[in-house]
Amino acid sequence: MQIFDTISGMGHEQVVLCSDTVTGLRAIIGIHNTSLGPSLGGTRFWKYDSDEAAITDVLRLSRGMTYKAAVSGVNLGGGKAVIIGDPRTDKSEGLFRAFGRMVESLRGRYITAEDVGTSVRDMEWIRMETKYVTGIGGPGGSGDPSPVTALGVYSGMRASAKATWGSDSLAGKTVVVQGAGNVATYLVEHLVKDGAKVLVSDIYADKVNALASRTGAEVISPDAVYTTPCDVFSPNALGAILNDDTIPTLSCAIICGGANNQLKEERAHAEMLRNKGILYAPDYVVNSGGLMNVASEVEGYDRDKVMRQAEGVYDITANIIRIASERNMLTIEASNAIAEERLRQVRHVHGSYVGSPTIRGV
Ligand SMILES: NC(=O)c1ccc[n+]([C@@H]2O[C@H](COP(=O)([O-])OP(=O)(O)OC[C@H]3O[C@@H](n4cnc5c(N)ncnc54)[C@H](O)[C@@H]3O)[C@@H](O)[C@H]2O)c1
Repeated sequence: MQIFDTISGMGHEQVVLCSDTVTGLRAIIGIHNTSLGPSLGGTRFWKYDSDEAAITDVLRLSRGMTYKAAVSGVNLGGGKAVIIGDPRTDKSEGLFRAFGRMVESLRGRYITAEDVGTSVRDMEWIRMETKYVTGIGGPGGSGDPSPVTALGVYSGMRASAKATWGSDSLAGKTVVVQGAGNVATYLVEHLVKDGAKVLVSDIYADKVNALASRTGAEVISPDAVYTTPCDVFSPNALGAILNDDTIPTLSCAIICGGANNQLKEERAHAEMLRNKGILYAPDYVVNSGGLMNVASEVEGYDRDKVMRQAEGVYDITANIIRIASERNMLTIEASNAIAEERLRQVRHVHGSYVGSPTIRGV
């Protein structure tokens, strides 16, 4: 890997390699862009096959955070960290405290949070060494982001419905929900309340059955989510599920869900969806409620304000769909363009000097 070509090609400001031999810490912090504010993004603990795979992941994830913050109006930059190791066997207080020291050394240029493989307990260890960490429980903490994320997804879905059918009500529409986890649970509640017919699936029968019996949703098998005709398909499980194999089998008008990185190849698969006449609500836009939630923790947590912000995903999504249609772009291209324009403008505004220098002899 030509590391400098790679990071400058993707637009990163800084990549920090962190090592501590006693605790076994091997971590990489990627700071993509701090034009809007300090970079924020979770720490992923994963058993990467190679150092290169870990670097590639942190670069891709931190860049994604810049776009998510920019498009959702949050004043944060994009950052992410990865710790190389097996989350089931390699975690220790010492390792997370050593990582916390590394985060502290960046003096707030990077703020961390939970991600795949890390928990509230791990964040509490990091907190012993730095205040630049969110996602801690207790007073002042933002707690579970899923209800906020789900409200954002639901709001984005209503905006997509309005653009497609002229009404933002989902009453009478059939919505297929993939996953019966945290986000899906709150989303299904909104949909059922709205009068939608909800079909839900999960690889764990107990989870999906519990959700179905509580909400009145119908259970379908995990394989059936792609082939069951519906009005809206809502992915809320894993990434890369919109690909060459699944897209040809889809029969829906809208895709709108909380899962990250739904398109296996961003441009190619977004184009395939458009060619099938399916409206794709960009994942990082409609699932930005989770980021809004932790961003609020940085400023002093305010749940009501965060819920209002998540409802604002309606207008953000509607704007993206309108711009995509007017400029004949893919929705993902329109959201990327809006994010880049906000970054450009704020960078420009911050370019002028507003301090008060001490000038001797004048
Ligand atoms: N929690 C949040 O606030 C938040 C914020 C932004 C993005 N996301 C993204 O949303 C998605 C869901 O997050 P979550 O917090 O609800 O996770 P979760 O682990 O609670 O739920 C995911 C569910 O998907 C199920 N699943 C896995 N593979 C499946 C398959 N092939 N078919 C059907 N079900 C399957 C799992 O069994 C699990 O129940 C993830 O991609 C996550 O990165 C979550």
